Amino acid sequence: MLDLTTTYAGFKLKNPIIIGSSGLTESVASLKELEKRGAAAIVLKSLFEEEIIREMEDSMNQMNAPGHIYPEIYDFFDMTAIEDSSTKYLNLIREAKKELNIPIFASVNCVSSDEWTYFAKRAQDAGADGIELNLFVLPSDFNRTGVENEKIYFDVIEKVKKEITIPLVIKISYYFSNLGAMIQKISESGIDALVLFNRFFTPDIDLETMKIVPSNIFSTQSELSTSLRWIAIMADRVKCDLAGSTGIHEGTDVIKQLLAGAKAVHIASTLYKHGTSHIENMLKDIKDWMEDNNYSSIGDFCGKMSQSKSINAAAYERVQFMKHFSGK
Ligand SMILES: Cc1cc2nc3c(=O)[nH]c(=O)nc-3n(C[C@H](O)[C@H](O)[C@H](O)COP(=O)(O)O)c2cc1C
Repeated sequence: MLDLTTTYAGFKLKNPIIIGSSGLTESVASLKELEKRGAAAIVLKSLFEEEIIREMEDSMNQMNAPGHIYPEIYDFFDMTAIEDSSTKYLNLIREAKKELNIPIFASVNCVSSDEWTYFAKRAQDAGADGIELNLFVLPSDFNRTGVENEKIYFDVIEKVKKEITIPLVIKISYYFSNLGAMIQKISESGIDALVLFNRFFTPDIDLETMKIVPSNIFSTQSELSTSLRWIAIMADRVKCDLAGSTGIHEGTDVIKQLLAGAKAVHIASTLYKHGTSHIENMLKDIKDWMEDNNYSSIGDFCGKMSQSKSINAAAYERVQFMKHFSGK
């Protein structure tokens, strides 16, 4: 009997495949289908910090209250669509908990430690098993230093941790000037797991319409390597679990992430591409590989190829091509 269980953020998961926050995780019907196909845990589609604040202000009838960090964000949203969105979100958590048996993480996209953090407690009270924060401060504010930008991450974590007792997971990007040290510092802030890395909305310009449009919404398998590199480098240097994310499209990619030291993975794009039944294919490929290589449990090989355990540790830090493509 193969044992695919893994421990992640305080949970014993039946296998390492977690469904990343996305349009696939915003309805109970879809969540049930994902569980049926073998998903071990699910991160719900994120609520935006601005949606929570907006609703809070509505209910307090303080629409003109000062202190918004990004008031212009409201132009970006369809306000009718987000009306009461946090109430709907809490209902989704309640419904999901009624219908599913696997851990459900609520998710918030946030850029500050503003008033929204009370929502984490409401998500916990609605039954969320954990909270994942998609935390990203785009370093485009010329008046803020890198140190100030980085402080926001710790302020958010501190504030949210005061609100909840359930596990806290942070999903970050790789846009830090000193990435390894930052990952390490965040991992020591009392959180339960870190997801490396998020993938963002990226802009393109449509030359016909002269409009800004989203580009490359879905990842490709070739994007796996950035996450793989940093999981391997950080695996034995952090104080929380790591999950790999971005470019994990096949069971073999999951195996690579586990070998590098991830305890679990988040997947989204591959399910958009192949359908939710692809979870079953991925699990089968993991099992086949384990059988072929005489591993009976994930623990037998998890972290075996992390940087500190690898016989070629320098390979994870190599960034320049040497002989390849030089014609020699
Ligand atoms: C259509 C789509 C919607 C997404 N929405 C969210 C979101 O609301 N919150 C979030 O944290 N991540 C969101 N993500 C990012 C995914 O959770 C995941 O981190 C990222 O896509 C990398 O994984 P992948 O390569 O398997 O797609 C979204 C991704 C896609 C493709």
